[in-house]
Amino acid sequence: MAIGVPTNKKQKKKKNDLTRHLTYSNKKSVNDIMKTPKSKLVNIWGKTEKDANTRNFLFYGDNLPIMAKLLDNRKISGKVRLVYIDPPYSTQTAFHSRKLSHAYEDNLTGAEFIEFLRARLILLRELLAEDGSIYLHLDEKMVFHIKVIMDEIFGLNNYKNCIVRKKCNPKNYTRKKYGNISDYILFYTKSDQYVWNRPIEPWTEDRALKEYQYIEEKTGRRYKKVPIHAPGVRNGETGKPWRGMLPPPGKHWQYTPQKLDILDAENKIYWSPNGNPRRKVYLDENPGVSVQDIWLDYRDAHNQNIKITGYPTEKNPELLKRIIEASSNPDDIVLDCFCGSGTTLEIAHRLGRRWIGIDNSVEAMRTVLDRFAKGTEMMGDFVSKRKNKNQLPSLFEPIECEIEQGTRASKHRPIKNFSLIADVKCARDIEPVVDEWIKHQR
Ligand SMILES: C[S@@+](CC[C@H](N)C(=O)[O-])C[C@H]1O[C@@H](n2cnc3c(N)ncnc32)[C@H](O)[C@@H]1O
Repeated sequence: MAIGVPTNKKQKKKKNDLTRHLTYSNKKSVNDIMKTPKSKLVNIWGKTEKDANTRNFLFYGDNLPIMAKLLDNRKISGKVRLVYIDPPYSTQTAFHSRKLSHAYEDNLTGAEFIEFLRARLILLRELLAEDGSIYLHLDEKMVFHIKVIMDEIFGLNNYKNCIVRKKCNPKNYTRKKYGNISDYILFYTKSDQYVWNRPIEPWTEDRALKEYQYIEEKTGRRYKKVPIHAPGVRNGETGKPWRGMLPPPGKHWQYTPQKLDILDAENKIYWSPNGNPRRKVYLDENPGVSVQDIWLDYRDAHNQNIKITGYPTEKNPELLKRIIEASSNPDDIVLDCFCGSGTTLEIAHRLGRRWIGIDNSVEAMRTVLDRFAKGTEMMGDFVSKRKNKNQLPSLFEPIECEIEQGTRASKHRPIKNFSLIADVKCARDIEPVVDEWIKHQR
């Protein structure tokens, strides 16, 4: 096992002062981006964005001028606790919903793509609260370029994680390289004081028994033994002898000798037959394992047979639940300015957060409103409707679903407490969608 000794804080700071910049043509100054012309907004449904009782907003239009406008709103600007965005990934693809309606185009490449996202990230930083967090979802194509841009905007010191998400099931890959089943979520905060509700994966019996192998005779409590020293020499209390013993070479005690005495008096130190002390950590004091930065359980809806809207590239609701619970509290504002089918918005709503969603696709608006009114439905094309399960499907048999299309969850609670607001430039585009929605409200 490799043992590293952390460098001291001064050295660390020096390293982090090394600001990296990405240079490319047509990179605007932050000042110019902050002068982005603001949207003129028109209220379509519900109360205006200035109304004190409005908790949630769905905006239709380009997110850049809309966010420039939101910066004027004192109840929103600098108050957003959490941003999750899942923008286009520079795939050069036109995306359609499962009903084959056009959803959006993902055509920008290279510097144009980077600048498109950079401008939005600069405004998002201004909208974020000082203790806010931002999660940006991308795939391998642009994530490394955008990591450098995020370092520029949020600061390398505020980089927290690059989460690796398993996005789909293994493919029968025939190309001469490894199968690609991952994408990435960059997690940054605006400062080092940020909301963090430590996510935990509860113990499985198997894992708990493997890790906590010992049982305390008197109490019957299950525990494991961990070292009481850590790498690095210290000259203070934790470098002094305890019970006549110095910490091993190159190490220091994790606690002061006084604290170690207390732990020992509480019978929380295990002494090996040859006199080596270790600390006892009890299973019943540990609710589970802290979540790590590889997430295997949140494959895209299409790969997990869960309920979906049918919008292309929609994300798994459980993924959003984890992020929203970890980095926000009830009543906080959660913002997704590439909201697509509204996964972030619905989960934020269900978790008692306020939310702001923006998208410039008519199909996204149709999908969000439909999702709010009627819920999601099973995709269901994993299972053939054939009665005899052993009978092989004919090659030309149409795929039929065991789960009838069109059945929605009976328990769905419609989401109505929000305002729908559009940029005047494009408000007319969503008239038919809104007429449908209003009819459904009656
Ligand atoms: C990858 S999808 C988001 C999917 C979403 N996470 C979900 O769970 O459904 C990207 C979305 O960004 C939207 N979009 C792209 N450019 C935009 C812009 N300039 N302003 C607002 N929305 C934009 C697209 O219409 C699309 O819905």
